[in-house]
Amino acid sequence: MKNITIIGTGYVGLVTGVGLSEFGNKVICADIDNDKILKLKAGEIPIYEPGLDEIIKRNVQNNRLLFTSDISSSIKNSEVIIIAVGTPQSDSGEADMQYVYSVVNEIKENLNGYKVICTKSTVPIGTGKKITNILKNNFKENSDFNYVSNPEFLREGSAVKDFLWPDRIIIGTSSLIAYEVMCDVYRPLYINKSPINHTSVETAEMIKYASNSFLALKISYINEIANLCELVGADVHDVAIAMGKDGRISEKFLHPGPGFGGSCFPKDLESLSSISDEHGVQMDTLTAAITANKKQKKQMCNKLENLVTSGLKDKEIAVLGLSFKANTDDVRESSSIDMINFILSKGGYVRAYDPIANNSMSNLFPNISYFQNVYEAVDKAQALIVMTEWNEFRSLDLNRIRKIMSGKFILDTRNILNMKELSSLGFVYDNIGRLKI
Ligand code: UDX
Ligand code: UDX
Repeated sequence: MKNITIIGTGYVGLVTGVGLSEFGNKVICADIDNDKILKLKAGEIPIYEPGLDEIIKRNVQNNRLLFTSDISSSIKNSEVIIIAVGTPQSDSGEADMQYVYSVVNEIKENLNGYKVICTKSTVPIGTGKKITNILKNNFKENSDFNYVSNPEFLREGSAVKDFLWPDRIIIGTSSLIAYEVMCDVYRPLYINKSPINHTSVETAEMIKYASNSFLALKISYINEIANLCELVGADVHDVAIAMGKDGRISEKFLHPGPGFGGSCFPKDLESLSSISDEHGVQMDTLTAAITANKKQKKQMCNKLENLVTSGLKDKEIAVLGLSFKANTDDVRESSSIDMINFILSKGGYVRAYDPIANNSMSNLFPNISYFQNVYEAVDKAQALIVMTEWNEFRSLDLNRIRKIMSGKFILDTRNILNMKELSSLGFVYDNIGRLKI
């Protein structure tokens, strides 16, 4: 087992740090945001991740997990330093690396012996070499290190499960010592033969981008197939099921929706596209995935405008689902942002509800109305839009909703409502790529 510091306790860093303590390592979760650290110390979890709180409690009690904003001391006291700070998209589309490099400099200042320096954050291919050069430049006495790229594949909302039962672990390093150290860090997975791929640093960095971009491309593809299904009288639900029976395709990530969001897909596609441009190669598939996704978000707004034939001006529109997908409170790049902006731009009023993301969205839209349950949100609304696939939206009491809405329009951007029921209750509805009943 190892003494580990993970720097950055966001969605990625916190789940990773907690997961590594669950594997028996002694983990310090360090963050520049002292408020966040104080909340974590008080047992308050700043993000919504099912199952995270009990693992935190268990490992804090067993003294394997602690939280601090004293990043320097943590580095000094650890053998493995994991960088998990944000790499948000900059205006130019490239990843904003300022946080990563500020952490690298802090590590450099506090190198007091051999350490494995590991990047978990999604970083442009070639970053590992740059970090290594920074750390080697003006090398401090008696300090030594090896560098590792260890990208993560956690999905928000299922991050704990994804961490404890990963499809694969990627250890990108040229150092056998560092590889062995990382196998020890992931020992329980190593023992139960979770596939650990030992690659070069650049290969590990590419695996992350290639995986995420492919998943995003797959979603844009099924979204475009869905749009065409509407025009040719096919049903995308049946198409996707039949496609998924082919092992080469798999049924995963073939659900049409309002366009993908989150802190990863949009950013990683743009970043990989920038990297390929820098190297003089045009990756048309990436550009297509990005363009198709932007169009999908607009297509949802067009659907709403075509559905509410009397126009959106002065109409109350209920938006159910504010985060970029169900089971998370993260609204980064959420398609609901585009939808809300569109409704407001047409002079409509938004009645917003999300089981856990109301607060997150209120930072972006403080002046729209937020409600604590579906039925308050849809009360007297002219139209209702389902934007995420929460289970509670799958089991809406449509009979009750028909009675309390003032209008009869429903836009289901996740194809989760029963069309037969919608029709029998007299709703005028639309969804994505379905053969209407
Ligand atoms: C993000 C991206 O989503 C992901 O693609 C990338 O792999 C890692 O960064 P996430 O956990 O969502 O992952 O980041 P975010 O939620 O922005 O949290 C980053 C944390 O790092 C914040 O808590 C921030 O306070 C902290 N931080 C940032 C530092 O501790 N030091 C810094 O210098 C900057
Ligand atoms: C993604 C990757 O899945 C994960 O491996 C990586 O580490 C981080 O980025 P995340 O962004 O948390 O995870 O969520 P994910 O479940 O992948 O969904 C991303 C977006 O795609 C969401 O907006 C979701 O609604 C959308 N999506 C997903 C679809 O529209 N259809 C699908 O079939 C699947």
